[in-house]
Amino acid sequence: MSFKILFINGPNLNLLGEREQSQYGSTTFKELKELCLKKSQELNIKLEFVQSNIEGEIVTWIQKAKKVHDGIIINAAAFTHTSVAIRDALQIFDKAKIEVHISNIYNREEFRKKSLISDVVTGGVFGLGSNGYILAIIAMHKIINDEN
Ligand code: DQA
Repeated sequence: MSFKILFINGPNLNLLGEREQSQYGSTTFKELKELCLKKSQELNIKLEFVQSNIEGEIVTWIQKAKKVHDGIIINAAAFTHTSVAIRDALQIFDKAKIEVHISNIYNREEFRKKSLISDVVTGGVFGLGSNGYILAIIAMHKIINDEN
């Protein structure tokens, strides 16, 4: 069975590979996207991998996913800590949802320790670098397989 997964990346993640390598590593956004597409292909998942710096655009993607996708993986980046709108949209999406962070948001600045989305998602991965993205895809595959 083939599933459709939406992988949403929030603000500044397009700059992976250039921004704060000590936190986010040297893998570029393009490389990360390719790794995720490759893993998805192996698992027979149709992956849509998107990035936006605009909060409203992310909300619209989540709303539209309800009719199209079987699950959402999201690194909401800085919006994780601020966006009630993204939280509300995720709450309305009633299928599997995984939150991902490249860095460990719990051993950084105080303001990053609060995620507004953690309690409305199925589960999360943080602090495992770009491997976390691959692990999230594997976990989503298992969750949806178990549901069907
Ligand atoms: C991040 C952590 C956020 O606090 C930060 O604003 C990001 C990236 C991560 O992947 O570690 O942009 O979501």
